[in-house]
Amino acid sequence: MDDTPNLLPVTPANLATAAARLRAGGLVAFPTETVYGLGGNARDDRAVAAIFAAKGRPSFNPLIVHVPGLAEAEEIAVADDRARELAALYWPGPLTLVLPRRTDAGLSLLVSAGLDTVAIRAPNHAVAQAVLRESGLPLAAPSANRSGAVSPTAPQHVLESLGARAGLILAGGRCPVGLESTVLDLSAPEPVLLRPGAVLREEIERLIGPVSLAGVADAAGTPQPSPGLLPSHYAPAAPVRLGVKEAAADEAFLTFGPDRFVRGGATRLNLSPQGDLVEAAANLFAHLRALDRPGVRGIAVMPVPDEGLGVAINDRLRRAAAPRP
Ligand code: TXA
Ligand code: MG
Repeated sequence: MDDTPNLLPVTPANLATAAARLRAGGLVAFPTETVYGLGGNARDDRAVAAIFAAKGRPSFNPLIVHVPGLAEAEEIAVADDRARELAALYWPGPLTLVLPRRTDAGLSLLVSAGLDTVAIRAPNHAVAQAVLRESGLPLAAPSANRSGAVSPTAPQHVLESLGARAGLILAGGRCPVGLESTVLDLSAPEPVLLRPGAVLREEIERLIGPVSLAGVADAAGTPQPSPGLLPSHYAPAAPVRLGVKEAAADEAFLTFGPDRFVRGGATRLNLSPQGDLVEAAANLFAHLRALDRPGVRGIAVMPVPDEGLGVAINDRLRRAAAPRP
């Protein structure tokens, strides 16, 4: 397998190449509706280890396993009524369920970092679905970026962050959601939200009842402990300052809402001039990257409403602003 980074357009021939590479234990970066994933065979310890190595992850955090749908999920995990109901409504889509893993699943132990649970989701993206179906494999796929960096929402971001480490990159355009999936732990009687995302806690509660919070960064910016959730994550190189109404003259300014309310900042990018949280989520990581240029003293960020998708956006922003390890 050669190590030249390759941005490949999505064609039937390139999908076949990607599937063959995955079956041979190699890695492929591919688009999902949330962010680009760096995929490898979830049954192959060496492929999973190669993902950790490519990302430069400081520890073996458990990874999300991607499958086409509920039928394939039930081959590797035990789904109860809550899981089936949620999957029926949200899969394929940006919801990850942590479930007890089946002992006969043949999954790499590394993929769940030794836990007896596994995180699974069915991505809602034609390219991701094609890669899953062509390879016929459950695919471990964390975001396709170096550990701790901003998540990639375009093929160019993968290339910039991982370079040759990504191996093959299926270039399938921008990711429509732009934020990683909601992670919900259903492995115990009480459901726990481990990571907020596009599927909202309120929507989940309407279906299965009360969901408690863990790991989500609180208003002070301190994420509560949860496996695989580092306080500083999604971090640009420049320091990030939150809740800023008027930026300093030498700061980059990430704004939200109508431009007529914006004051200060050397350079500015608006997450959504209309104040649309869906648009803001889709732009978040790309704008953070674009503002994170050499010579920028810091990135100031305007307040984003903490409701709906804003909860997930603020979780990512608090991690970007958290003290660095
Ligand atoms: O949107 C996404 O989910 C993207 C795209 C590529 O699909 N993938 C992604 O994967 O973000 P990853 O592996 O980086 O996400 C892992 C998250 C972490 O927050 C981790 O703590 C949690 O899922 N997780 C995974 N397995 C777990 C487990 N067995 N128990 C608890 N949390 C788990
Ligand atoms: Mg990530």
